[in-house]
Amino acid sequence: MGTPREAVFQSNQNKDFLRSAYDAGHVKGWFGRAGRPLKYLGLPAWEMLDIIAWEPFLSRFTTIEREENQQHLMFLQANVQDVEHRLYSLYGEFDSILLSGRDAYGYGPDWPYDLINLDYFGGFIYSNLTRPKAIRKLISNQAAYSQGFLLIITQHLRDCDTIGAKATFLDDLRRSLKNVSTDPTVHVSIDTVLNWYSDSATPDSFRQALYMNVFLRDVGEVEHFDVKCRPAVLYAGTGNSSMIHFVTEFVFRPGLGHKPASNQSLIDIVNFSLLELCDGSFAPPIQHPIIPKPI
Ligand SMILES: C[S@@+](CC[C@H](N)C(=O)[O-])C[C@H]1O[C@@H](n2cnc3c(N)ncnc32)[C@H](O)[C@@H]1O
Repeated sequence: MGTPREAVFQSNQNKDFLRSAYDAGHVKGWFGRAGRPLKYLGLPAWEMLDIIAWEPFLSRFTTIEREENQQHLMFLQANVQDVEHRLYSLYGEFDSILLSGRDAYGYGPDWPYDLINLDYFGGFIYSNLTRPKAIRKLISNQAAYSQGFLLIITQHLRDCDTIGAKATFLDDLRRSLKNVSTDPTVHVSIDTVLNWYSDSATPDSFRQALYMNVFLRDVGEVEHFDVKCRPAVLYAGTGNSSMIHFVTEFVFRPGLGHKPASNQSLIDIVNFSLLELCDGSFAPPIQHPIIPKPI
């Protein structure tokens, strides 16, 4: 899928903080849990700032890049950083590489991975649904190897509509939440919160955050992962464009015929606030109505 070309990526204070403090903490935690260096798949751009920041926790890296000049500079950077021997590079659109299993030159990812950093241009939902299909395929490829992983996704904040694939999302979610309890007071609070999410006055970022997290949880559970989502992080990226960032753990549960229930509940996800980065540090979390947890 060819998404529109954005301005060339340029890091900034927010992105530097995310990569070197927030994400680095999660990568280090996942490394400690795995008990070995992590195999990385991602879109590092030519400077490979994420790979360089997390290098002590990484083993080999597979990179994906669709811009020829970035790809070329990446080889030079790998050489300068003396990590060339750990680099395996794929060329093309990441969605089509994940879906077809091949890049523009016929090479494929070296499944499975421990750490996947999809830091891309564009949103999540396009009319052909290629991107959700690609991420679904990625999760199922990991499951084929019974391999848990940490998934970091950064995308543009632009799936703000409530039409098309997302038109029924909030209604479906409302039904799923209500199916769990017959208590009328719980149903009232579910309605209050879901009405708030549906309200056009509610910032679109809340809907995109909820949609992504519920998508990752649903697809992960179908593939036998216990999924732990986190509140999304908003920040201004290259050219001041609004970006949204997700860090999600997928722990494989072997030996199951059925879909596991994640330790984290759907209510936890609905109740997430949003984290906002301003000038490289977190602003106080944005509050919203929540569903009280059953005692
Ligand atoms: C945001 S930058 C990566 C930044 C890096 N992860 C960091 O922490 O500094 C994204 C890179 O991926 C490339 N890219 C963006 N969308 C892509 C896509 N759909 N397929 C392949 N490459 C893409 C861009 O050309 C750019 O070099």
